[in-house]
Order: sequence, then structure tokens, then C-alpha cells
Amino acid sequence: MSFAPRVERVRPSLTLQINAEAAAMERGHENVARLGAGEPDFDTPEHIRQAAHQAIEAGYTRYTAVDGYPDLRAAVREKFARDNDLQFADEEVMVTCGAKQALSDLAQVLLRSGDEAVIPRPYWVSYPAQVTLAEADPVFVDAPMDEDFTIAPERLDAALGERTRLLYLNSPNNPTGRVYRRAELEAIAEVLRRHPRVWVVSDDIYEHIRFDSGPFLNLLSVAPDLADRTLVVNGVSKAYAMTGWRVGFVGGPRQVISEMTKVQGQSTAGTASISQHAAQAALRGDQSVVDHMVAAFRTRHERIVPALDALPGIRCRPSDGTFYAFPDASGLIERLPDVDDDRELAERLLHDAEVAVVPGSGFGMPGHLRVSFAASMDTIDTALERLSEFIERETSDAGTQTR
Ligand SMILES: Cc1ncc(COP(=O)(O)O)c(C=O)c1O
Repeated sequence: MSFAPRVERVRPSLTLQINAEAAAMERGHENVARLGAGEPDFDTPEHIRQAAHQAIEAGYTRYTAVDGYPDLRAAVREKFARDNDLQFADEEVMVTCGAKQALSDLAQVLLRSGDEAVIPRPYWVSYPAQVTLAEADPVFVDAPMDEDFTIAPERLDAALGERTRLLYLNSPNNPTGRVYRRAELEAIAEVLRRHPRVWVVSDDIYEHIRFDSGPFLNLLSVAPDLADRTLVVNGVSKAYAMTGWRVGFVGGPRQVISEMTKVQGQSTAGTASISQHAAQAALRGDQSVVDHMVAAFRTRHERIVPALDALPGIRCRPSDGTFYAFPDASGLIERLPDVDDDRELAERLLHDAEVAVVPGSGFGMPGHLRVSFAASMDTIDTALERLSEFIERETSDAGTQTR
């Protein structure tokens, strides 16, 4: 059977694959310490769940406007003003089925066949896939761990060429946990000013999950002059533990938002009416629910990062935010005689140590592992113990010295 080439070029997600394997092992009654998840392990807060109940009882069960209920769009505009000092008009925002659909809509609208989209690497898996589905070509700019996962301005400048149409920015970053500093954003903005044809998407989905107390900065915080070619994507999934509700949103120039609404109108239409009411409660309600979750992520981060870094053959830098660490495990891979790369390492860890993590090559950076700490402290401790035992056992069998 043959399918559309744009679909055949997209590879299945390694995150989903590892999580499916871990789930299958659990069905077979194995007790996997799962550090593969890309979502908070908390329940959606009570007042948000209540808003959904009320929406059902009040009869909000019909199609909504493609770009979301007016009330929710107003709440989105308030959120952008409150948290980001961005003043969007009503026609400059839209509600989507998760941030993922906002990203997909904009790729469909902005990218033409043969265009290039520049993606810092490591990257969230869906960026290159969405670029490919839009029949454009992903081009990568490396932001390696030895450079503190920073996008070097000269490398970015070199990657932006005649065919470049779009640049992806994601901070706090999945998978590295890195938050771009003011100076880095200013340097990126400076490069972008030399490339006036390039659009930018700022994926701020992890905005609230940060371990410092300073204000959140995105590209527009430091370069408001780029607003006429920047789309700011965000949503409720990560901050409010609402991944399954499927509500995202985007702010940007009205012509683009209007075209994105057209695309969405002919694909999914508006996201679930009940979820939209819940999202409104999340955006307008008590924001301290977010602080409680972030405090837990911070504590877990403090536990897991030094422990990973202390494991032989593993180097792990602290994350600034998100619930991910992205350690370099190449030293360990070298020491394990029958393991050649991060995929094999993740497979061995899953089957022989019962620890689920995602291989870095799924994010474009082989040799690394993405470790999620959106898991209970017990799960984290169990995973760390198992990792330590696995390394001890496997490297002493091989008779090799570690680190
Ligand atoms: C960087 C990044 N952007 C966007 C998304 C999509 O989020 P949503 O659940 O709102 O579609 C994710 C989810 O994992 C993500 O990691």
C-alpha cells in the first residue's frame, strides 16, 4: 500500500513508543518506574473540574465558534496582557485543540512547498513532523549540552537563508528544560532583524513551570518590534494539568490568525465546548494551583538532577523549568558492551531495569535520554535505585571502569 509521501516521511514518535511498551509491561504485571511521560501527574484542580460540570448542566454541549467561545478568547487576551504584557485584539487570538493544533494550523498556513523551517536541536518531536506534513523542509540548528543548550546567534544566522520561512523557539524547552535568558533572546532578535522574511513561533507552553522566580520572557518581551511576524503559542495543558482537555491558544497578526481559523474550520473546528469552559476557569481562576504543582516539580528536580549526574557515565545539567532533564548518557553507552546507542540503552533500561525514559534521538540528539520528573518522589527514587543497580551490574560484568 502506498500513502502520501508527506505522511510516509513522518516517523512515529519515540515517546509514544516507549510509553506504549512500558504500559504493555505493566499490563503483564511488571512494575515499571515510568519517567517517560510528557504530562503532569497531578489531577486537574477542583475548581476547573467543577466549571466543566457546570458547563454540561448549563447546556454548553453544541458546536462553538471555530476560534473558541468569545468569553474564552477574552480570557486568553487577559492572560496575554497579565502574564506577557501583550495586548492582542479579539481577531488576533484563537483557541485550538491543544497548543499542538495551534502549531499545526500555523505550519499549514505559513509554510509553502519547498520552504525551510529552522528548528533548534534538540527539539520537541512534533516540530519537524508538522513541517514535513506541510511539505516544507526542517533545517536544524544545534544547541548542544556543552554550549548549555544555547542557540548560538552566528549558527542561527547561518541557518536562516533564502528559503527560510519560519523559526521555532521553545522556552522553557522540551526536552532540555532550558529557559532562554534575556541576553540570548536579544541576540536571537538581532539575528531576526537581519532576516525580515522569517516568521517566528514562540512556543510558551511551559511558561509557568519554571524554577526561578523572575518574570517570564519570550521573544516579544525583548523585541516588541517583531510582533508583526511572531505567533505566541500557549495553552492550559501543562500549567493546569489539563493535557486531556485539549485546549491551546495562539496570539499573532490577524491575517495569519484568520487563515489559521480557516484551516481549523475545515479540520477539527472548535475544541470541545466543555473543555473551553474549564479552560476559562483555569485562566481566570486562582493561579496558586499552578504554584503548588511547580513547587512539587522543583523538589523533584532537586532530587533527580544531582542523582543522575552522580551516576557513572551520565552528565546532567540542572533544568531551569519544565519537568524534564536531558542528561548526556554517552559515557554510559560507551561502557556497555552490547549497547550501541541511546535507543538500545532506553530499551535495555526498560526491559532489564524496568525504568522508562525516552531516547534523545527522538528529539534529534543521540546519546542523551529525556527523563521526566512528572512522577511521584517514590517512583523517582525507585527509578534512581534501579538505574544505579543496573549500571553497577552491567558495567562490572563487563569488567570496565566507569567514569
Ligand atoms: C514543546 C511543546 N509544545 C507543545 C505541546 C503541546 O501541548 P498541548 O497538549 O497543548 O497540545 C507540547 C506537549 O508535549 C510540548 O512539549
